[in-house]
Amino acid sequence: MPTANNVIGLDIGHSAVKIACYTQDEKERQILFPSIAVPAFTISDDGEARRAARETVMVGSRPYFFGETARTQGGTSQGLSEDWVDTPEHMALLKGALKCVQDEVGLPENAMLVMGLPTHLFSRQRDRLKQLAGEAYKGEIKVVPQPFAPFQMMMLDRLGNPSPVRSMMEESWGVIEVGYYSTDFMLMQRGRWVEKASGSCAGVRVAADHLARMLAEKGLTVDLPECEEALQTRRILDFGRKTDVGHEVDQSVALVVTEVIDTATRLMEPYVRKLDGVLVAGGGAPIVHPRIQEKWPHAHMANKPRLAVAEGMRRFGMALLRARELQGVSV
Ligand SMILES: Nc1ncnc2c1ncn2[C@@H]1O[C@H](COP(=O)(O)OP(=O)(O)OP(=O)(O)O)[C@@H](O)[C@H]1O
Ligand SMILES: [Mg+2]
Repeated sequence: MPTANNVIGLDIGHSAVKIACYTQDEKERQILFPSIAVPAFTISDDGEARRAARETVMVGSRPYFFGETARTQGGTSQGLSEDWVDTPEHMALLKGALKCVQDEVGLPENAMLVMGLPTHLFSRQRDRLKQLAGEAYKGEIKVVPQPFAPFQMMMLDRLGNPSPVRSMMEESWGVIEVGYYSTDFMLMQRGRWVEKASGSCAGVRVAADHLARMLAEKGLTVDLPECEEALQTRRILDFGRKTDVGHEVDQSVALVVTEVIDTATRLMEPYVRKLDGVLVAGGGAPIVHPRIQEKWPHAHMANKPRLAVAEGMRRFGMALLRARELQGVSV
C-alpha cells in the first residue's frame, strides 16, 4: 500500500507557496514560504550568506533567491499575470519548493507531485505546467483545478481513503477558494464537476490594492505586501509608529467580499439550496466565510483553510495511488 510520503501536494500561490508532505516515518509536514523570487547576488555577511545559500536555486544558468531570503533581499515579485507559470520566477519557486522538501523530509524517490491551477486557466495551462514542472521534477506530475483540492481534503483521509462521514458519490458541494490573485469556484454534484457553475473572480489582492490607494490618498505610501499584511493586523508601521488602519481595512475587505458573493451568486444560486454544503477555503476564507454564511447557512470553512489546497492535492494523489494498487497496476 502507498505510504503518506509517496505524494507531495504543491500549491504555488501568488502570495505564498504551500507544501503538504510527510516524513519517511509518516509525520505530517506543512511548509509555507512567500512567493517571491529574485535573481541572486553576492551577500557579504557570512551568516546571511549561509542562510541565502539554503534559499537559492538555479534557473537555467542563473541563480535565484526564493522565499524569505528573496523578501529580505528586496524582492517583491508577485506574478500577477496569466502567463506567470512561464516565467523564471515561477520556475524558481517550483525548484525552491522541491529543495525545501528535499532539505526537510528528503524527497522520496518516485513520489507523485500534485499541483494546481486557477479554474479559468486550467484547460489552457494544464499541459504547459506539466511540461515545465517536468523539467524540474522527474517523477509523475498531476495538475488539478485549485478548488478541487479542498473538496478532496474533506472527502478523503490522510491516506487517501474515503472519509467515513462523507460520500463523494452521494453528496453535492459548492467550493469557494479565496486566494490572493483569484477566487475560484467549483460545483461537484455527486462526484462530477459541473462546469457551468465553475469559474473565477479576483482574490484578496483587490482589497490590498484598494487599501494602498486609500492610504496613498492620505499621504501614506505603502506597498502591496505591507497592505496584504495590514489586512490581518489592521496596522501599518509608519516611521516607528503603529498606525491604526482598521477603518480602511474594513472598506477594502468589503470590496472582495462583495465581488466573491456576487460571483458565487451568479454561478451557484440555481444549485445552492440543493447542495449538502458550500466549502470555503484558501487564505482569504476567514474574511469571506462569515458573510457567505449569512447568505447560505450551510457554508463551512475548511480546516486550516490556507493549507487545504496543498493537503487536498496530496490526499487526491494518495487516492489515485490506492486505486491503481487495487486495480493491480504497479505504482
Ligand atoms: N488568517 C487570515 N485571515 C485573513 N487573511 C488571510 C489569513 N491568512 C492568509 N490570509 C490572506 O489570504 C490571501 C490568500 O492567501 P492564499 O495563500 O490562499 O493565496 P495564494 O494561494 O497565494 O493566491 P492564489 O491562489 O490566488 O495564487 C493572502 O492575501 C493572505 O495574506
Ligand atoms: Mg492559492
